[in-house]
Amino acid sequence: MSIDGLFARTEEFPNPSAQARLNSLVGLDEIVDRLVVDAVALLDPSAMASWSMAVHGEVIPAVSAVLDRTPMFVFAGDVGVGKTEVAEVIGQAIATRAHVDVSLYPLSLSARGRGAVGEMTTLLTRAFERISSDFARARKQDGTATSLGVLLIDEADALAQSRELAQMHHEDRAGVNALLRGIDGLRVDRIPVLTILCTNRLDVLDPAVQRRAAAIQVFSRPSHEQRAALLLRLLAGTEISISDVESLAAATAEKAVWPYSYTYSDLRQRLVPEIILSAYRRGVAVDFSIAEEVISQTPPTRPFGSAA
Ligand SMILES: Nc1ncnc2c1ncn2[C@@H]1O[C@H](COP(=O)(O)OP(=O)(O)O)[C@@H](O)[C@H]1O
Ligand SMILES: [Mg+2]
Repeated sequence: MSIDGLFARTEEFPNPSAQARLNSLVGLDEIVDRLVVDAVALLDPSAMASWSMAVHGEVIPAVSAVLDRTPMFVFAGDVGVGKTEVAEVIGQAIATRAHVDVSLYPLSLSARGRGAVGEMTTLLTRAFERISSDFARARKQDGTATSLGVLLIDEADALAQSRELAQMHHEDRAGVNALLRGIDGLRVDRIPVLTILCTNRLDVLDPAVQRRAAAIQVFSRPSHEQRAALLLRLLAGTEISISDVESLAAATAEKAVWPYSYTYSDLRQRLVPEIILSAYRRGVAVDFSIAEEVISQTPPTRPFGSAA
């Protein structure tokens, strides 16, 4: 459902479908766990205070240094490696850990930013205003948050390009400035909202934006083990054995013809559906030879920004 046509659709956590999506992620447990612990520490002063009391017997002054940080993560990396997926479901893990309701406000800049001059700037400004008013009363007197928000700014490279780039238009700078004003405003007013900025191009993300990030998490294409684990799950119940899965993981590695391995989305959204359809069209069981054949016909996605 859209709020004033501003956000794509909001979502409330915890909910079972988000938990299922979280559970279906492969190879990201450590990353997600660390991000969730950090997010709760940044958003909920009581979490850090009780830790400090437990281990130091008092709330040490340095706790405030953490609470003064901007609750913003930057997710960077190639296309199809889980940035959007993690950003969309991390609220579920935060809600579970912090025992409070979390709302997701997703804003995609790619779909919206191509309109009239100033549209992206207006969009960002209104989004931050909306969030600030929705969460203005979300903290109790003692600072404890009664609900938390996640503002997801996806496809942020459409906007947050380096202000140092000479060819940059005036409008782009205005957009970056609106973003900086927005995240600074949330921090100063102690609005309990985590901003997550996703970008395929960390190198062109404005330095002032990068400096504010409490964490910059770079996502990568899956390793051999991660590809095997994902394929094993996705191909469960077929005639493909565990040792076949090892071979398929090897077949989806980088090789001479394509010097890059398959992404998570290559495996999940292209390869596996194509394998299943291929068997279905023939009316036969899904087996290793079909999977191998489909792989040979389905090359991995080129790394973002590489020549076509
Ligand atoms: N670690 C993972 N485990 C399982 N599936 C994943 C993982 N990362 C991404 N995917 C799947 O790949 C697809 C693309 O992921 P997405 O988050 O949209 O990529 P991007 O990094 O381009 O934002 C989604 O269907 C998502 O569910
Ligand atoms: Mg994405």
